[in-house]
Amino acid sequence: MILVTGGLGFIGSHTVVSLQEKGHEVLIVDDLSNATIEVLDGIEAASGTRPKLEVLNLQDSVGVAEIFQAYNITGIIHFAAAKAVGESVQKPIAYYQNNLGSLLNLLAEIEKSHKPIPFIFSSSCTVYGEAETLPITERAPIQPAMSPYGNTKQVGEEILADTVNALEGFRVISLRYFNPIGAHASNAIGELPLGKPQNLVPFITQTAAGLYPKLTVFGNDYPTADGTNVRDYIHVVDLAEAHVVALERITSNETSEAYEVFNLGTGKGSSVLEVIQSFERVSGLKLTYEIGDRRAGDVVAAYADTKKANEVLGWKTQRSLDEAIASAWAWEKKVRGL
Ligand code: WQD
Repeated sequence: MILVTGGLGFIGSHTVVSLQEKGHEVLIVDDLSNATIEVLDGIEAASGTRPKLEVLNLQDSVGVAEIFQAYNITGIIHFAAAKAVGESVQKPIAYYQNNLGSLLNLLAEIEKSHKPIPFIFSSSCTVYGEAETLPITERAPIQPAMSPYGNTKQVGEEILADTVNALEGFRVISLRYFNPIGAHASNAIGELPLGKPQNLVPFITQTAAGLYPKLTVFGNDYPTADGTNVRDYIHVVDLAEAHVVALERITSNETSEAYEVFNLGTGKGSSVLEVIQSFERVSGLKLTYEIGDRRAGDVVAAYADTKKANEVLGWKTQRSLDEAIASAWAWEKKVRGL
């Protein structure tokens, strides 16, 4: 049974579908703090299989122990975490308690089980901050975190790197995502940000759906080709498939070290204006937007060097920016009944 924590979330739900499509049996543990139970119906519609669900916040150590007693956990993909960068600045204690407390409770149960349960950790390219060199490799220096959220990813990786040395046979792969976007081809699951979206693509699709009068582009005076920030937008299904590849790399004993890290991106940078142009191309609509002030904490540019994931993990993205944006728009129209 593969335990997927936060499996009702955006990346988690897509990973559950990929796992089930590859024949894995899945248990989701999710506290419903940032997802609705209907996502389970979407996962079933997308993959033909309804995973098991336990509603639990992983800070509940007794609850986590009961999960390990009730199920034969043979692998873990750990997504469950609070992830709003701005909110984490306002509520650092809650972020460290939730994100690190949950991780530590899982590791305590793995230690008690005396089983080297394969562990995939959801990390983020934010650990690199404003990288000196582009594209960004896994050897790029880790910069001081720009937010408590980003720090929980950095500290989480450090905890895991320390733990593999202490637990015999324990193997971990941390996956550092760039910018996940899009939705499953079935249109049964997708990104469902609760409240006003922080991220660019859901803001674009919600503006086009009429929820907001316009998109604000946070600055066009950056030192980039068109003055707007550059990011590496990766289709969420490509990202989900990478998690299955990483898990199977550990279970088939292919890892070269106990703790491995991979950047997951397309290897191509796209500016904010290029993403808007992609949306207009695939939707045939004109997006209403204005140029506003820069957003605090934004890095100028970040996109992945994909060599290690391509050569070592044997994985590369299959889907284009236009395909990802088209799938995000199809999902938005479905959610809004358009
Ligand atoms: C992308 C670009 C904005 C909204 C964040 C997290 C990161 C990861 C991915 C979790 C930036 C611009 C955005 C808008 C805009 N999440 N933008 N107008 O900041 O690269 O990464 O999400 O791991 O940790 O930090 O993504 O989508 O917020 O912004 O102009 O209304 O779009 O300035 O240049 P970001 P984003």
